[in-house]
Amino acid sequence: MFELLLLFLLLSLPCVFLGLFFAKKHPENVPPGSMGWPLVGETLMFLKPHKSNSIGTFLQDHFTRYGKVFKSHLFGSPTIVSADCDLNSFVLQNEEKLFKCSYPKAVHEILGKSSMLLVEGDVHKRLRNVAICFTNICKSSPKYFYDIDKHVRETMASWKNRKEVILNKEAKKLTLDLMVKQILDLEPEHPSASRILEDFLTFMKGFISLPIYLPGTSYTKAVKARERICSTVKSILEERKVGLRDEKIDYLDVILSNESLIDEERVSTVLDLLLAGYDTTSVLIQIVVYFLGQSPKVLEHLKEEHQEIRKRKDTGPLNLEDYKQMEFTQNVIQEALRCGNIVKFVHRRALKDVYYKGYFIPSGWKVLPIATAIHLDPSNYTDPLKFNPWRWTGQEKEKTFAPFGGGLRLCPGADLGKIETAFFLHHLLLNFRFQTYDEDHPLAYPFVDFKRGLPIKIEPIETI
Ligand code: HEM
Repeated sequence: MFELLLLFLLLSLPCVFLGLFFAKKHPENVPPGSMGWPLVGETLMFLKPHKSNSIGTFLQDHFTRYGKVFKSHLFGSPTIVSADCDLNSFVLQNEEKLFKCSYPKAVHEILGKSSMLLVEGDVHKRLRNVAICFTNICKSSPKYFYDIDKHVRETMASWKNRKEVILNKEAKKLTLDLMVKQILDLEPEHPSASRILEDFLTFMKGFISLPIYLPGTSYTKAVKARERICSTVKSILEERKVGLRDEKIDYLDVILSNESLIDEERVSTVLDLLLAGYDTTSVLIQIVVYFLGQSPKVLEHLKEEHQEIRKRKDTGPLNLEDYKQMEFTQNVIQEALRCGNIVKFVHRRALKDVYYKGYFIPSGWKVLPIATAIHLDPSNYTDPLKFNPWRWTGQEKEKTFAPFGGGLRLCPGADLGKIETAFFLHHLLLNFRFQTYDEDHPLAYPFVDFKRGLPIKIEPIETI
């Protein structure tokens, strides 16, 4: 008993000193809250999985106790957690002036030092321009739309004789195949594509594992997988350098002809786009299907929109014009982003002491703007837990809607993810009746995943 008490005191002392230190240096106007346990603070409670269409017990409890903005100790740092809409957009809009992107040290080794999420200032601007150039090339190329349509049709054709598919697996394969095609111009059957797919899955596992750099751990395997992906990508770039064209037709042409980039940055931008674009889009597909499975009226209305489009097109592939016609589909996707919360929060750090709306954020503290809390706040959305795509008809709610972040780091791939999802829905709804299971929900780990991988029962409507 005595030993336990002694251990408790020893563990608590640093916390008490930290508390006294911050209390002295930063008096009453640092938002209220608790710094939790020594070293880990409240990180484990903060990361406890919960349904992604809820804010979870930790945030619920803290908002009730301290209000929409509170202090805590998370990811090894004193932190301000914010569900205040104005503060969140203030933080995102003041990137590099008052705040900077600040992902935990553990992911640095995995992402590599030239990753867009880690670099700042001019280097960030330069690499970000390349990503924007990629998305612009995609959106302006009929081939991009044709490829999505083709890959989605092939995926659905492979379901022809099946009664059930695990959507998580199918959506991941589809979105990674599409990214590899769009970025590296490789078809899924190319040997390098399957090598990248395999290494990428190992890479993703490590990304969400404990950062223990010992032989055999998921983290070490991920760092090694990253090295292998880099060397595969490097050799693809070398091959393309030999046959470099004047015309900038695809992403490889763009990065190879961009003389401001060194080779390491070229490889890194490829990894960034794969990493940021593939899993997010696959989750978007899954959450839309999940919410549709629970909303028969929405599903019916959505199906009518796609039947109308198909009537006009006969059997031809979908294109940009068709996408523009999918107005209700876009509302459905928007609503799934709001309810499903693919990215729960982003990591930022204060560059100097900041005073905003009576809150004081000390220099060097982490700041976590929580998008989920804004999306599910009844003062921003009527009946916020209801999946209601009609709420978006004729509405612009930019300030309260931030599934793609904001400011200098606003997601450059948002449209691409939405287009892939819309085309997927088109072919799913016209070719299959489907049913989800009640017990499988999107969980925020905080990355969103389904415990059972979202199995869906399917029944073909007509021969594909
Ligand atoms: C479809 C679902 C998607 C969601 C919900 C999503 C969400 C986000 C969010 C919240 C950020 C901001 C991160 C931060 O501020 O720290 C971000 C950044 C980024 N996203 Fe996306 N994203 C999606 C799809 C994509 C796609 C398809 C691509 C690429 C083709 C992409 C590429 C990127 C890149 C490169 C960044 C870093 C931007 C920068 O630091 O300047 N994303 N995304």
